[in-house]
Amino acid sequence: MKGLNITNLSVDANGRHIINNLSLSFRGGRTYALVGANGSGKSTLANVIMGNPEYTVTGGQITLDGCNITDLDTAERAKLGLFLAMQYPTEIAGISYADFLRTALVSQRGNNIDFSSTLNELTANARRLGFNSFDYRRDVNVGFSGGEKKKSEILQMLALKPRLAILDEPDSGLDKASVKKLTTVLNNINYSTTLIVISHNNDLLNSLNLTATYDMGALQ
Ligand SMILES: Nc1ncnc2c1ncn2[C@@H]1O[C@H](COP(=O)(O)OP(=O)(O)O)[C@@H](O)[C@H]1O
Ligand SMILES: [Mg+2]
Repeated sequence: MKGLNITNLSVDANGRHIINNLSLSFRGGRTYALVGANGSGKSTLANVIMGNPEYTVTGGQITLDGCNITDLDTAERAKLGLFLAMQYPTEIAGISYADFLRTALVSQRGNNIDFSSTLNELTANARRLGFNSFDYRRDVNVGFSGGEKKKSEILQMLALKPRLAILDEPDSGLDKASVKKLTTVLNNINYSTTLIVISHNNDLLNSLNLTATYDMGALQ
C-alpha cells in the first residue's frame, strides 16, 4: 500500500518500554491527527519513524510505500522524503538557515537545484505564516522566539516538499492568529505529501481536512 505502515511496533529507550505492539496506517497524500495524553508516546513514534538512534525497535516494522525502512538511518529516511518538525526545535549556532537548507536540498535532489527560487519561496512562505522578520542569513533558530522556531520548522518542510511530514505540536507557542495562518498553509500545500499532525489543539485539528484521528492511548 502507498503510504506509511506500522505493524506490531514495540519500542524501548533507556531500558523503558514506551510503545507496545502498535499497528497504524497512513495512506499516501492524506492528513492525519495523532492525539493522546502527555507521555502516551506520540513524540517517541515520530522519532522512531525518523530513525532517531535514541530509540530501539524491539519488534515489528515500518514500511514506506511498501519498502521496509525499519533499519535505515535518519539520513537515508530523509532522502526517501521523510521529514519531522520537532516538538522542541534545536538551535544550530554557526550555520545559517540558508546554508542548512541548501545542504538538505542538495543531499535530497543533487546539485541541480534552483536555490534562488527556493529562497524567494521561503520569504513568501514566512509572510504567509506571519513570520515577517524571517531572515535566512541568521543561524538556524538561534535567538528565535518559541513560536518563530516552530514556524521555521514549517518553512523547512515547505522548502523540502517531503513525501511524508510529521509535525509534532506545530501550534505550541503560536498565538491564535498564527494558528489560523498555519492551518491555511497546511490546507493549501500544493504537492502530494502525507501529513501527520500531533496536537492537543482542537482549533487546529478541526480545521484540517483529516482522513483519520489516531489516539495513541487507545491503540496500545
Ligand atoms: N529517550 C527516552 N528515554 C527514556 N524515556 C523516554 C525517552 N523518550 C521518551 N521517554 C518516555 O516515554 C514516554 C512517552 O514520551 P513521549 O513520546 O515524549 O510522549 P508524548 O509525546 O505523547 O507526550 C514518556 O513517559 C517519556 O518520559
Ligand atoms: Mg510529545
